[in-house]
Amino acid sequence: MSRFLIFGFLLATCPLALASDPGPLQDYCVADSNSPVFVNGVVCKDAKLVKADDFLFRGFHLMGNTTNDMGSNVTAVNVAELPGLNTLGISLARIDFAPRGINPPHTHPRATEILIVIEGRLLAGFVTSNPENRLITKVLVKGDVFVFPQGLIHFQKNLGKGHAIAIAGLSSQNPGVITIANAMFGSNPDIVGDVLEKAFQVDIKVVHQIQSKF
Ligand SMILES: *[C@@H]1O[C@H](CO)[C@@H](O)[C@H](O)[C@H]1NC(C)=O
Ligand SMILES: *[C@@H]1O[C@H](CO)[C@@H](O)[C@H](O)[C@H]1NC(C)=O
Repeated sequence: MSRFLIFGFLLATCPLALASDPGPLQDYCVADSNSPVFVNGVVCKDAKLVKADDFLFRGFHLMGNTTNDMGSNVTAVNVAELPGLNTLGISLARIDFAPRGINPPHTHPRATEILIVIEGRLLAGFVTSNPENRLITKVLVKGDVFVFPQGLIHFQKNLGKGHAIAIAGLSSQNPGVITIANAMFGSNPDIVGDVLEKAFQVDIKVVHQIQSKF
């Protein structure tokens, strides 16, 4: 009896532990963003009301505005922008870089990212988990493809004198983004100063100075 229970438990939990987003159980489940029901993902729109536009996003050829502190702009195409992605475990992003612009260190809690440089030259890198915290970096040129494993902190920097463009595929309909600096120093409300003072081994004045930027 207990053996059956354990087997059942493993059967029930293993696919969830191994997969990224769970697999679809029908051809499609177009996101119904108006539904008041909360589920893991988004409720399906009535299949009879689904139209071709539910599977379409337009404007990915347009450059994002990079006039900001980072000198970069991410155009995300996930389930919020393209309802047809619901339950399909995949999404896309375009990243534009001004000269010397950076896509600051961040992580996607729910997705691995595969990135291709289509214009310019980028320094790309990610850091492995504790205790190694090994930095793995590469200079990428047009046509190079690089992968950022799920959950790891990664970044890109434009090394060229001109504009750079990268396209990223992500293994989730809703990868999520945690930008490290914003999460640590721009949380709402603030993380108490002495936590950051000890964590970052800096004076409390430095903590407050960084917090004031976010
Ligand atoms: C990214 O570009 C879009 C389109 O130009 C713009 O609306 C948006 O404000 C930009 N985002 C940032 C963070 O600069
Ligand atoms: C880009 O963003 C900056 C800062 O918000 C703004 O001043 C500028 O007009 C924007 N450029 C375009 C083409 O929208």
